[in-house]
Amino acid sequence: MNKLFSPFKLGDIELANRVAMAPMTRARITNTQDAADDDTALYYAQRASAGLLITEGSQISRQGQGFLFTPGIYSKSQVEGWKKTTQAVHDKNGKIFIQLWHVGRMSHTSLQPDGGAPVSSVAKSAVNGHCFAIDEQGNPGRVAVSEPEELTLEGIEQIKQDFVQAAKNAMEAGFDGIEIHGANGYLLEQFINASLNTRQDIYGGQTIENRARLTLEIVDAIVAAIGSGKTAIRLAPFGRFGDMHPFEQEEETWLYIAGELSKRNLAYVHLSDQKTLGAQAIPDGFIEKFRTTYQGPLIIAGGFDKEKAEQYLQEDKLDLVAFGQPYIPNPDLVERMQNDWPLAEADREVYYGGDQRGYTDFPSYEVN
Ligand SMILES: Cc1cc2nc3c(=O)[nH]c(=O)nc-3n(C[C@H](O)[C@H](O)[C@H](O)COP(=O)(O)O)c2cc1C
Repeated sequence: MNKLFSPFKLGDIELANRVAMAPMTRARITNTQDAADDDTALYYAQRASAGLLITEGSQISRQGQGFLFTPGIYSKSQVEGWKKTTQAVHDKNGKIFIQLWHVGRMSHTSLQPDGGAPVSSVAKSAVNGHCFAIDEQGNPGRVAVSEPEELTLEGIEQIKQDFVQAAKNAMEAGFDGIEIHGANGYLLEQFINASLNTRQDIYGGQTIENRARLTLEIVDAIVAAIGSGKTAIRLAPFGRFGDMHPFEQEEETWLYIAGELSKRNLAYVHLSDQKTLGAQAIPDGFIEKFRTTYQGPLIIAGGFDKEKAEQYLQEDKLDLVAFGQPYIPNPDLVERMQNDWPLAEADREVYYGGDQRGYTDFPSYEVN
């Protein structure tokens, strides 16, 4: 029996199918409040037939921002902006989680409060790291990331509070849940990765427990604020984005986190395989180990098509399959896969920034 289009109970909600839309930054926000707007609402509503929509990364604070034109979830006007999206998606019986994002060192002084330095586990820049900020000529553009400052314990406490407040804001905005962005070389990975995190304190490099501490404390604080059934996390085991390097006990680290998350009865854990984005794949056999250790609902993204999705579901490697790039030009991806209609392709030029073109103007498939 086909599983991809069968319903699934995820945390507190019922999903119509096992298709998730992966979080994708589209950098289309041009208002000065960094608030999701009518176009954002239209874009997600067009894709509401997915069992679960996961929004683009939404910064939890000014400090957490690493790209221009991304929507935040820390101010009143941002909460009001996101309400348009949740309303539009729910009107179409869709379900939507928001991804809570802190980029850590992958930022630039032009994006930071008072033009200050970005923050990280240690004061070390990402080699060849770039972000999208204001360049030396004062124009939006791709710039090298700025040298970060090592977070103090007070700074870490503030970030935990910012995550919790963002999760509460997300509830006020009407989201069905939140996904903590623990993947792709951003703040939480900057703590987890032992090749970078050489701190000497309880958040530091000495032990796996110390390096995982910030991630798990944020999970626990958000669970306490909004409930475990509304809380999820995305991880990128063996991820190499943002100048992340291999380290000793890498597999043990990810499996330790898997085991800890398994105790917490979360809505889901979402693994990001970076292969289709140009980095290495999650090693063969690791997903099976992760799934044995973490026994709750599992989503995986990266390089799926309908056939591979169904195969992974049949082999019980996961519970939901997330599609990223296929969702950019195929708002009706579920219907296209269900009916074996052809998939449209998008030019990479339209991925980030710009206007409605390449954003909300991809049509649904029309049968002649
Ligand atoms: C344009 C674009 C923006 C992305 N933005 C995010 C993001 O904000 N947060 C995140 O966790 N992953 C992000 N990703 C990664 C995707 O969620 C997904 O893991 C990746 O595209 C692999 O899936 P695919 O092979 O189906 O495209 C982005 C990918 C693309 C192509």
